[in-house]
Amino acid sequence: MTASTSSGTVRPARLVVTGAGGQLGQELLRRAPDAHALGRRDLDITDAAAVAAAIEPGDVVINCAAFTAVDRAESEVAAAFAGNETGPAVLAAACARVGARLIQLSTDYVFAGVHDRPYETIDPTGPVSVYGQSKLAGEQAVLKLAPDAHVVRTAWVYAGRGSDFVATMVRLERERDTVNVVDDQLGAPTYAADLAAGLLELAGRPDAPRVLHATNAGEATWFDLARAVFEGVGADPARVRPCDSSAFPRPARRPAYSVLSHRAWDDAGLTPLRPWRVALEDALSRLSD
Ligand SMILES: NC(=O)c1ccc[n+]([C@@H]2O[C@H](COP(=O)([O-])OP(=O)(O)OC[C@H]3O[C@@H](n4cnc5c(N)ncnc54)[C@H](OP(=O)(O)O)[C@@H]3O)[C@@H](O)[C@H]2O)c1
Repeated sequence: MTASTSSGTVRPARLVVTGAGGQLGQELLRRAPDAHALGRRDLDITDAAAVAAAIEPGDVVINCAAFTAVDRAESEVAAAFAGNETGPAVLAAACARVGARLIQLSTDYVFAGVHDRPYETIDPTGPVSVYGQSKLAGEQAVLKLAPDAHVVRTAWVYAGRGSDFVATMVRLERERDTVNVVDDQLGAPTYAADLAAGLLELAGRPDAPRVLHATNAGEATWFDLARAVFEGVGADPARVRPCDSSAFPRPARRPAYSVLSHRAWDDAGLTPLRPWRVALEDALSRLSD
């Protein structure tokens, strides 16, 4: 990754991570500790003047900032669109103005979830939630405003920390005899560390297609993932019981099927992310790190 300065000299491009305090931002910084980290307190991505001041020519900006509370988005529509559409649009315009490159994260929830085969990058979108609609609006703004930008859709991201799904299952395994987990949504669980590695590879590949999908390989329901977590920590997976989404009514609808095809990623010669079960084993083995 290099960038030309106004004096014509070539320097390594600066990697900038916005939303650096979040799950993916933290994982990127673990892998790229020299990156210029901008957490929410350092940079609100909806603040055009602050964004313009923060971005330099030649930067590669990985935008991990987003309004990610899927259920809250249903009632906090303006906040969801501010974080997921306005913010990325502001970043994209600033990057285009100075010759920086933006990598914008998006989601499997831009799709309606009615397929029975993995969604290609060019398949029609049709979000069924406010969160999905706001992320799609962000994608469209970025692609329109920044000709060099990439949009990377990912899904079901966990690091095994805090209150993410994997960390929650590890905790519930200790606290409960049995756990009911929904078995009627199919997606691709994705280890944040693997996604971070893929994004860093993409940072050096300005030639890659503009819209890409990056998730661990394979597919699973939340129930499959929960059982794999129990197995991974040496517990009896039969303690995880399947149930329907109707058992856990939530404000936002989720797509029933949101597996993403990696064809564009693979065709670009980017390193495929490993199968989700292998990644999960690795994640669980690092929990005590
Ligand atoms: N996690 C998943 O399962 C998943 C799945 C598909 C796609 N994605 C996408 O992947 C990306 C990273 O997600 P993540 O899991 O790392 O989310 P996360 O842990 O919720 O991190 C998002 C970060 O963005 C910050 N933020 C929110 N609004 C901001 C603003 N206006 N300016 C600056 N920072 C702001 C948040 O700060 P506060 O905490 O202070 O609000 C938080 O630190 C997002 O684009 C998300 O849509 C995630």
